[in-house]
Order: sequence, then C-alpha cells, then structure tokens
Amino acid sequence: MNSISIVGAGPGAPDLLTIRALDRIKKAEVLVWTDSLIPPEIAQLAPENCKKIKTSTLTLEEILPILIGECKKGKKVVRLHDGDPCLFGAISEQICSLAEAGIDVEVIPGISAYQATASTLKKELTIPGIVQTIVLTRTSGRTGMPNKEDLESLAALQASICLYLSARHVEEAERTLLKYYSPNTPVAIGYRVSWKDEWLKTVPLRDMASVSKQRGLIRTTLYVISPALKESNQRSKLYQPAHKHLFRQR
Ligand SMILES: C[S@@+](CC[C@H](N)C(=O)[O-])C[C@H]1O[C@@H](n2cnc3c(N)ncnc32)[C@H](O)[C@@H]1O
Repeated sequence: MNSISIVGAGPGAPDLLTIRALDRIKKAEVLVWTDSLIPPEIAQLAPENCKKIKTSTLTLEEILPILIGECKKGKKVVRLHDGDPCLFGAISEQICSLAEAGIDVEVIPGISAYQATASTLKKELTIPGIVQTIVLTRTSGRTGMPNKEDLESLAALQASICLYLSARHVEEAERTLLKYYSPNTPVAIGYRVSWKDEWLKTVPLRDMASVSKQRGLIRTTLYVISPALKESNQRSKLYQPAHKHLFRQR
C-alpha cells in the first residue's frame, strides 16, 4: 500500500524536531508544508531536489490531489504540520480522504507550542497542590466550539489553560477568564516561541489583552494561563523520603 508521512515539525526551532521527523524530511521527494506556521529553515532541511509545496494559500481540494498524485507516482511524500499534528492540525480530514484513495499514513509527533513555551519559561504546568490539569483549547472564533467546551466552562476548572488560535479574540477571552481566575494570575504570552524572532512575556491576567494589542499580536501566539507560573517551592510526593513506591521501598 502507498503511504504518506504526516510529520510534526515542532514549534519552529529546527533542533526541536524529533530524530524521526528529521529522517523523513531528509528523505522527502515531495514536501507539502504549512508555510504560515513553520519557518523556512525547516523546509530547507529537505534535499535540494525535493519538490516543496507551500499550503498557506491552498484549500483541501487543492492539497489532496497533490498528495495523492505524487504518492501514486511512487514519490516519498511528507506532509509537514507545525507543532504536533494531532492538535489543531486538520489531519483527520486528510487521513480519511487519503484512505479513500487507498493511501495509508504514518503520523510522527512533534513538540507542541505549549511544551516549547513551558520549557522556555523553565516552568512545570502541573504543580501538586496547585494545579494538576492542563487544558489545551482555543476560543470560539470562526470555527466555533462545542457547547460544553466554551471557555467559560473550561475556565471554571481553574486549571492551566493553553489557548491556541485566540489572539484575535483576546479581549473576550480575558473577560471570561477573569470570572474564575484572579486578575494577578500569570499569563505567558508567546509569539513564535523558539523561532529566531521569538517574543515571550509573562503578565498578570488583567493585562493579557492590552499587552497583546500593544504588541500587535494576531498570529502564531499562544497564551498559557496558569497559577503554576507563580513562583512556588511546593513539593511533590514522588521524591519525599517517606513516600515508598515500587522502585523505592526503603
Ligand atoms: C493551527 S494551530 C496548530 C498547533 C500546533 N499543531 C501545535 O501543536 O502547536 C496554530 C496555533 O498554534 C499556536 N502556535 C504554533 N506554533 C507556535 C509558536 N511557535 N509560538 C506560539 N504559538 C504557536 C498558535 O496559537 C497558532 O495560532
């Protein structure tokens, strides 16, 4: 069966690609890549004679014939998505249509923007006694949200919330979040995290919208709203001397 590699490119820095992702990119004969969200340095890792096709101006109806046509010619086709492909990657519709055309896929994970943001900040988003849940979501926008998943319901959890695709709706998001989080709750605002022109700042929730507007952020921006971003020396049970477990019985 013919097969296509759907590859996660990670947040932007080429050295945050997985070894498996790099392997597929280096072997690609056709690279169909999301140029609006992936820096050109990553596409340049493909061989010089690889056919490179940008998708930012294409529809699914235009992308699919390229993927199917090139794969049926026997070419090694890589469909490159930013971050991790399973998260807001619109891969499901591609996988279904490829299956109908008799094409199998492999999916290679990538580091998502929220992971790159937390690690750049040197922060854990799940601190015992403070917060143990991470919500990966977005504001409604043009795509809309299932009723039970509107931001207000998710904010009521007071978990670490990572808001993708939401910079254009930041004022509304801030208003909703303020109903459940204190105005001082830290919010990391990350623009093109791990890119050469990365901008990343932690501000109180009450300033989330105004700082975004001042900075003119509308794209490639992630918000991490989390009580875990405050300074804390809260200890987990895992490494406490009194906490025995399978690997530490003493
Ligand atoms: C279509 S979604 C894809 C998310 C991607 N699959 C991931 O796992 O990160 C694109 C959104 O992800 C976020 N994003 C992706 N890369 C980013 C980066 N390097 N810095 C900040 N936000 C990023 C932004 O919210 C952007 O609008």
